[in-house]
Amino acid sequence: MSWRVPLADIDFDLQEEEAALRVIRSRWLSMGEETQGFEREFAEFSGAKHALAVSNATAALHLACIAAGIQPGDEVIVPSLSFVATANAVRYVGGTPIFADIESEDWLTIAPASIEKCISEKTRAVIVMHYAGFACDMPAIMDIAQKYNLMVIEDSAHAIGAELNGRKLGTWGDMGCYSFFSNKNMTTGEGGMLTTNDDALAERLKLLRSHGMTSLSWDRHKGRAWTYDVVDLGFNYRIDELRAALGRTQLKKVTGFNKRREDATALYRALLSEITPEIHIPFMQTRGTSCYHIMPILLPEGVDRIKFMESMKTDGVQTSIHYPPIHYFKNYAERKDFLRSGLHLTENVGMKEVTLPLYPALKNEDIKWVVNAIRRALDTAQPSRE
Ligand SMILES: Cc1ncc(COP(=O)(O)O)c(C=O)c1O
Repeated sequence: MSWRVPLADIDFDLQEEEAALRVIRSRWLSMGEETQGFEREFAEFSGAKHALAVSNATAALHLACIAAGIQPGDEVIVPSLSFVATANAVRYVGGTPIFADIESEDWLTIAPASIEKCISEKTRAVIVMHYAGFACDMPAIMDIAQKYNLMVIEDSAHAIGAELNGRKLGTWGDMGCYSFFSNKNMTTGEGGMLTTNDDALAERLKLLRSHGMTSLSWDRHKGRAWTYDVVDLGFNYRIDELRAALGRTQLKKVTGFNKRREDATALYRALLSEITPEIHIPFMQTRGTSCYHIMPILLPEGVDRIKFMESMKTDGVQTSIHYPPIHYFKNYAERKDFLRSGLHLTENVGMKEVTLPLYPALKNEDIKWVVNAIRRALDTAQPSRE
């Protein structure tokens, strides 16, 4: 399908091509100077003491759950209004995800009050997710974590470059997990980053990323080691040099990308309020500085979402849903033990959320086209008035 306005688009140019060529010509393809450079530069960008590049954010979340010491039977509180990887990571280590509700229709992130309702004596950690790059209420969440002695993992897949109180999202809790999947604010195709300020956690995560081995091929290539020991049950969650080089190039551009996303969001908001005032726009208040990863809207009560999305498609506009609540998925729905308190807001938002196209190269005229398409779609998908 060729969309007039796709949901997301990458922003690559000659610089990415040159970065890829640089690696190919270097003849060293995994875990070398590009990866080290990417980690150093990402640590500087995020203000974290340690940054570890990994194969994707799902791997980062898995490693974070192991390093947080989650054991079979332990409970970890997670949002249901997130990508399924947020909850899957807990299950990979035998833990039990317990779903908490969101704050409101205005702020779609995990609610501190709901977290507190989900706590039991088995709770060991919370995974928060900064939806669309808008900050969770981290001061309140860190207070709860301290009170109940919980680890905090930040699923920051959406939040590259976003901040709260002058501190980058992903660096408030014990570990931050970022994604460089192709629709993210900066991309390497597949790829991810784990950040932490804790030396011991960083050391463990480094081992876990590469089979629990005490030295890497790179160390042996450099003549720094002849052999290795295996001291932990690790994985191959490494990134490669090509993607690290793409990541370094994208990292230099991401602040500019985020600014363009911010301007596009401002134009969407202005046009939506004028042309489709019945649409509810979340995140209109101020809390920190978002990186505007996606543009969510909530349809008015009773509008048929599929008909709405079909009508947008007719106008060449790709839309999406963020997210079908995780606890509704077949693989989750029969696990009543994952539910402890009501998820009414999550369920309500899950029924009427639609995500609009947003990417740095989106033109103002495209945004006008999308909003006019929304006007037509609403008129088509409106509930009948009889
Ligand atoms: C909120 C969230 N968490 C985790 C992930 C997983 O990221 P990755 O595809 O890098 O494994 C994504 C990716 O879409 C995401 O949006």
